[in-house]
Amino acid sequence: MDRIRIAGGKRLNGSIPISGAKNATLPLMIASLLTDQTLILDNVPRLADVGLLQRILSNHGVDVMTGGKRPGETQYDGQTLHISAERVIDTTAPYELVSRMRASFWVIAPLLARMGEAKVSLPGGCAIGTRPVDLLIMALERLGADIDIDGGYVVARAKNGLKGGEINFPKVTVGGTHTALMAAALANGTTVIENAAREPEIKDVADCLNKMGAKINGAGSSQIVVEGVSKLNGARHRVLPDRIETGTYAMAVAMTGGDVMLENARAELLQEGLDVLAAAGLEYNETNRGLRVARNGGALKPVEVTTQPFPGFPTDLQAQLMALMTCASGTSRITETIFENRFMHVQELVRFGARIQLDGETATIEGVDKLKGAPVMATDLRASVSLVIAALAADGETMVNRVYHLDRGFERLEDKLSACGAEIERIVG
Ligand code: EPZ
Repeated sequence: MDRIRIAGGKRLNGSIPISGAKNATLPLMIASLLTDQTLILDNVPRLADVGLLQRILSNHGVDVMTGGKRPGETQYDGQTLHISAERVIDTTAPYELVSRMRASFWVIAPLLARMGEAKVSLPGGCAIGTRPVDLLIMALERLGADIDIDGGYVVARAKNGLKGGEINFPKVTVGGTHTALMAAALANGTTVIENAAREPEIKDVADCLNKMGAKINGAGSSQIVVEGVSKLNGARHRVLPDRIETGTYAMAVAMTGGDVMLENARAELLQEGLDVLAAAGLEYNETNRGLRVARNGGALKPVEVTTQPFPGFPTDLQAQLMALMTCASGTSRITETIFENRFMHVQELVRFGARIQLDGETATIEGVDKLKGAPVMATDLRASVSLVIAALAADGETMVNRVYHLDRGFERLEDKLSACGAEIERIVG
């Protein structure tokens, strides 16, 4: 398994290209199942999860062609995928694939909407929580699906097609909202989704579905109305920039000090996160090239944050913020309200000398003057990058093990950071 070696203490200066958003790319690829024509996606990040989803989709008979580099493209330009689900040859998504990437469970909605049936393995839990899918199933039932759970699989049927209906989510769920949107797009009649997730990736997927001929209004707000249509067509869509990658690198600059242009980043995708980072001492301003972030001198200030659904502070930046706060000049508090077990990074940060106390869903962080490099273990995608942030400012050398977690969601992380002066290298093996 690859490892990443970091020698801390280097400031970050230069520019980092922000890739297309993983959490928009995955549902956009899944949306290709809704049409027999070709969906073209631009600015797709080169991530392990994208490669795995290509394999999962091919299991259903989907052809995915990766467009080659065009003249003048730099190594960081996202890739273009041509995705054709002309004929769906299999409506089953097997356990051995779904268990490796939970979002692949979302294929249940387009398979059911287009083919009238789907048999998709329950995804099982993961490091950060039990991650149930009861609300995704509820949404499909509200649109007329018959659902059985059989041998660890969700068996869904809608022989006469799905019907528009009312879906009222008791709690905000991104996957639930994606599922409801894709099923409703081809349902017969009107669907109203209440308490919908407002994440920018939801709106990005809805914009693409509308290009394909769907009739969706209100995406990005908590009420979405969908007029079902009988057929969707091919389209071309550019994936929006990754707000979690943006926030992650902004925190890396806040941690080491320096001045970096985050190319293609958009502040409105991450406003709450940027407000928190400004309170902690990071300067930022928007330019036509992206988001410029800097911290020159001035101590890191402690903050109090509770994770919330968008537009609140994102749970996917919680571990990264905790790493940053280990060196703040005072006491910080971070409360995680979205997932029940998303503090796996705490024990690893303590290995750097961080002082963190856990009390239920709240972590209290006493800032220290300096962290010391140490061998640490990555446990999940966002926790692993919090260890990189800590290592960038720690005295001495850090070895981050199990970096396959990193590769799921951060494209060329070590290249992007070393281009700005970090002493970081991947040790293959
Ligand atoms: C999406 O996961 C993201 N993944 C997650 O990012 C992100 O952390 C999460 O949304 C919250 O923003 C992708 O977009 C691929 P949820 P999702 O349904 O849809 C509970 C990353 O690091 N819930 O919004 O699975 C659930 O347990 C990943 O990129 C139910 O109870 O999250 C959680 O407590 C990690 N029943 C809460 O809702 C359900 O049927 C929010 O989950 C569904 C969810």
